[in-house]
Amino acid sequence: MNEKIEGIIFDLDGVICSTDQYHYQAWKSLADSLGIYFDKKINDRLRGVSRAESLEIVLENSDKVYSDEQKAALAERKNDMYVQLIRQMTPDDLSDDVRMTLQELRRRGYRLAIGSSSKNTRTILRQIGLGDFFDAVSDGTNITHSKPDPEVFLKAAEMLRLNAGSCIVVQDARAGIEAAANGHFYSAGVGEAATDPRVTWPIRKISDLLGIVNSQSRS
Ligand code: BG6
Ligand code: MG
Repeated sequence: MNEKIEGIIFDLDGVICSTDQYHYQAWKSLADSLGIYFDKKINDRLRGVSRAESLEIVLENSDKVYSDEQKAALAERKNDMYVQLIRQMTPDDLSDDVRMTLQELRRRGYRLAIGSSSKNTRTILRQIGLGDFFDAVSDGTNITHSKPDPEVFLKAAEMLRLNAGSCIVVQDARAGIEAAANGHFYSAGVGEAATDPRVTWPIRKISDLLGIVNSQSRS
């Protein structure tokens, strides 16, 4: 690495907005309806992981064996509940801290992208008023491997025409920090991702990125 930072690739759920809470609510409702134990600790294992893989983790606490068709129907049920929640989002769901940070990074000339495993990325960005904001969007619709595979970030960097070594990946999930490390990106981690040993910079809030890029451009 040791290249100049030119781009920032943001995870969506739990980084740009709090849709991680809606994922939790939807999985919790599904698990409750099936009589399967589910809590926030289990939910943390779903961060950054695709919908189908998340369902497999939820079903670890069930004795019942589900067919592929039944699993597809369950994943659809969860997504229907989730979509109902995200459709109620508005630009007010973007925090002042995130809004200000994005505007300031843009003003300073950084290339900005989304790197998310979610197939609902475009809908969420539209709902919160960022439909046309990012220079590139790499999401669950253009990848074949979920985090910790670095594919989603490598595709985002390619769309930005930047090398991995000149980008910071911003994440709330351990799987995302692992993906960033696997792809040779710098990483900044919030929440549980801040405690991951592979994270380059643990941060408390998204605006902490402004200090990081400042110190990088001076070094
Ligand atoms: C990630 C979330 O961003 O997207 C995961 O952290 C989620 O929890 C994954 O499972 C897939 O999201 P979606 O919206 O395609 O079901
Ligand atoms: Mg996330």
